[in-house]
Amino acid sequence: MTVAAIALGVLASGRGSNLRNLLELGYRIAAVATNRPSCGAAALARERGLALGEFSQRRFASSEERDAAMLAWLRERGVELVVNAGYDRILSSDFVAAFPRRIVNVHPSLLPAFAGGMDAVERALAAGVQVTGCTVHVVTDEVDAGPILLQAAVPVLAGDTVERLRARIQAEEHRILPEAIELIAQASPSLRQ
Ligand code: GRF
Repeated sequence: MTVAAIALGVLASGRGSNLRNLLELGYRIAAVATNRPSCGAAALARERGLALGEFSQRRFASSEERDAAMLAWLRERGVELVVNAGYDRILSSDFVAAFPRRIVNVHPSLLPAFAGGMDAVERALAAGVQVTGCTVHVVTDEVDAGPILLQAAVPVLAGDTVERLRARIQAEEHRILPEAIELIAQASPSLRQ
């Protein structure tokens, strides 16, 4: 089995550029789960005819219940590796334990700097750092603190806006997220059979 044949489950809440990139590179997206059915990633999943699971928090009494439903749905679709590509909820520990070292997250900063939240690019710009970037890491129970797989540095340029800086960071995300998936697959014989 080639790495591209691994059944990925993508969790997304945002525009969906990382999902689009994985599709363009030929990855097998077995399922896309979202907590925001109106987000760009969900629209892309519908457009491409991908299996789309909608798990809005308001449908569930707790985040644990939401994640249990999402886990069962992903399992039914044979998901082997979960990719958080702009997912804005914290996964419950039961969900994390169900995919040991099989969940990766992409975060738009050089972790551990600007961990947590969805405004890392804004915070980096406001802090006046000269270099920021992105990180792909394994998801553990501690938010944005699991083992780092890959990072890419992105210089902050004079006159940068959040949008311009974010665009350059995302270009790097689109490079290192697939590389990180390859790393996980190489380190996990069961994913390569
Ligand atoms: C990315 O910048 C990622 O780092 C962050 O959310 C953003 C998602 O972008 N966690 P997209 O929805 O893949 O375009």
